[in-house]
Amino acid sequence: MHYFGYKNGELFCEEVPVKKIVEELGTPVYIYSASTIKRHFKVFENSFLPVDHIICYSVKANSNVAILSLLRSLGSGADIVSGGELQRALKAGINPQKIVFSGVGKTEKEIEMALSTGILMFNVESLEELEVLGEVAKRLGKPAPFALRVNPDVDPQTHPYISTGLKKNKFGIPEEMVVEAYKKAKDHPFLKPIGLDAHIGSQITSISPFKDALYRLKKIWEEITSLGIELKYLDLGGGLGIIYNNEEPPLPEEYAEAIIKEAQDLKATLILEPGRVIVGNAGILVTKVLYNKENLEKKFVIVDAGMNDLIRPAFYQAYHKIITVEEKNEEEVVVDIVGPICESSDFFAKDRKIPRVKRGDLLAIMSAGAYGFVMSSNYNSRPRVPEVLVDGDRFFVIRRRETIEDLLAPEMVPALYL
Ligand code: LLP
Repeated sequence: MHYFGYKNGELFCEEVPVKKIVEELGTPVYIYSASTIKRHFKVFENSFLPVDHIICYSVKANSNVAILSLLRSLGSGADIVSGGELQRALKAGINPQKIVFSGVGKTEKEIEMALSTGILMFNVESLEELEVLGEVAKRLGKPAPFALRVNPDVDPQTHPYISTGLKKNKFGIPEEMVVEAYKKAKDHPFLKPIGLDAHIGSQITSISPFKDALYRLKKIWEEITSLGIELKYLDLGGGLGIIYNNEEPPLPEEYAEAIIKEAQDLKATLILEPGRVIVGNAGILVTKVLYNKENLEKKFVIVDAGMNDLIRPAFYQAYHKIITVEEKNEEEVVVDIVGPICESSDFFAKDRKIPRVKRGDLLAIMSAGAYGFVMSSNYNSRPRVPEVLVDGDRFFVIRRRETIEDLLAPEMVPALYL
């Protein structure tokens, strides 16, 4: 669900007309609904109330500091994957004791930073990383709390680029090696095993892969605790899917119920790392029609946003609903909606039926709150677009539009060529 909808023939975000934001800030622009984020977070949180748990919002899904601050105000922790995300989380005031650090390629510097900050735990993804974690902890004289990320080899039945829990993926440590690693860490004076972790993929639309992974984790958990290693945290990662088109993902309540049922005898504190399900449907990308173009075989609507602003359709062939900002009764036409970038993969929709649009009309690309702005780039020297947060009848610019000067600032021409 979300708080975007038509009132008197025009699209509103909560109580603010989308057109009003565009009049002030131009296009393209990302617009997020605070009430949608609050609602999603609360529904997710409430579903896990029967058990001890920490919700560590996955910062990578949308890392604007204003969004992180909103989530912190609701009690969220953070799942981070870099030193940069750590700094964002801290800037938003997130309690370090609610931060978990995932990712296959943590640098020593990032590990040091996180350890001195006193985060809750490191989700370690390889045996070498565990060794390095031990060394850094020794150097700092501060034991490192960690979980190992298991690769449970389950198929999340999602796009191959966002599957992470299969044997062939780079993520996690194979089941067979995990127990050995805990044994080794047990006697290390600076390694403190406190949890077990898995994340199997993203945009998962059925419960069974989660259950399969949990089943494997339970076995490993029992094996580890039988060695006298006391674990407290069971981190189940993120991955719950949302509706982009006609998917039927489980409700957070159903997802939680299945997990709680399966996990309750472990007496663990659950850690959940939802990203998309919190912010995905809480954001739209608004773009303006630049041109209509008709070739022999196809009709194109060329808009002012490009794959550099929202890469999901190009990258994962992802479907995003696209609607007009002004409700239209015009006859429907089948078009490709494409951006201005010099790549054939620069499209938002192919063979999509939409009401006929003209130059200057505004379109809203829906469900762009997760993995939207965060994956944007400056390709074709395009300044990144502003982000706006709507709360009730007010709206706030939470990131200004970049300028060409911003883009050029870090570049230097050697004197040789001046
Ligand atoms: N935890 C870990 C360790 C992760 O790697 C991820 C996402 C999450 C949690 C959050 O997953 P979510 O609840 O959002 O599914 N760019 C892709 C998605 C990449 C997901 C990467 N990891 C997309 O646009 O679909």
